Amino acid sequence: MSSRRKRTAVLISGRGSNMRALIERARDPLFPAEISLALSNRPEAPGLAFANDNGIPCAIVDHKTYATRQEFEKALQAVLEAHRIEIVCLAGFMRLLTPWFVEQWPGRLLNIHPALLPAYRGLHTHERALADGVKIHGCTVHFVSAGVDEGPIIAQAAVPVLDSDTPETLAARVLEQEHIIYPAALARVAGGLVPPQAKCEASGG
Ligand code: GRF
Repeated sequence: MSSRRKRTAVLISGRGSNMRALIERARDPLFPAEISLALSNRPEAPGLAFANDNGIPCAIVDHKTYATRQEFEKALQAVLEAHRIEIVCLAGFMRLLTPWFVEQWPGRLLNIHPALLPAYRGLHTHERALADGVKIHGCTVHFVSAGVDEGPIIAQAAVPVLDSDTPETLAARVLEQEHIIYPAALARVAGGLVPPQAKCEASGG
């Protein structure tokens, strides 16, 4: 296991609160990853300001300026390579990635999802959990495989669903846990503490 901190990019599309949690946790020089790049597909993503104010290099790869998904992903990959990125963390990155991109990052591409996978893949997870009347909800950090919100699970946290919850109050309770488990999951991956089998499965798509 190398003691050098792994150069990590955080890919965002909006608010960037998970990116912020990762940046703040990685300020500790003993944390095994450093946040070396904040990359957004949306030039107006509010999260970019925090990254910029905190001295994190920022990049924009605006998907609207590319004719095809493939061209967009090639540009994304070129920026990541230019910054010598070793681990990619998706954090509210609202673009589906093709198998080609996923295959560039076996065991090195992470995502956070606001539900206890494999339950509630996709969007509007909090609304759907409330509509179903579940009593436990939560969040998941997982390796990305070719399917949407699929791939080996690295970390999860559960929260209670209260009778009084609205999608907003439930989202806030889950988000608090996201900010804890994402840095913890990144630390495990960057520190080489995730079982090799989990990484292999991620590369298998
Ligand atoms: C989070 O709920 C995350 O789980 C989901 O998108 C949201 C992003 O929030 N993938 P933020 O941009 O990190 O604040």
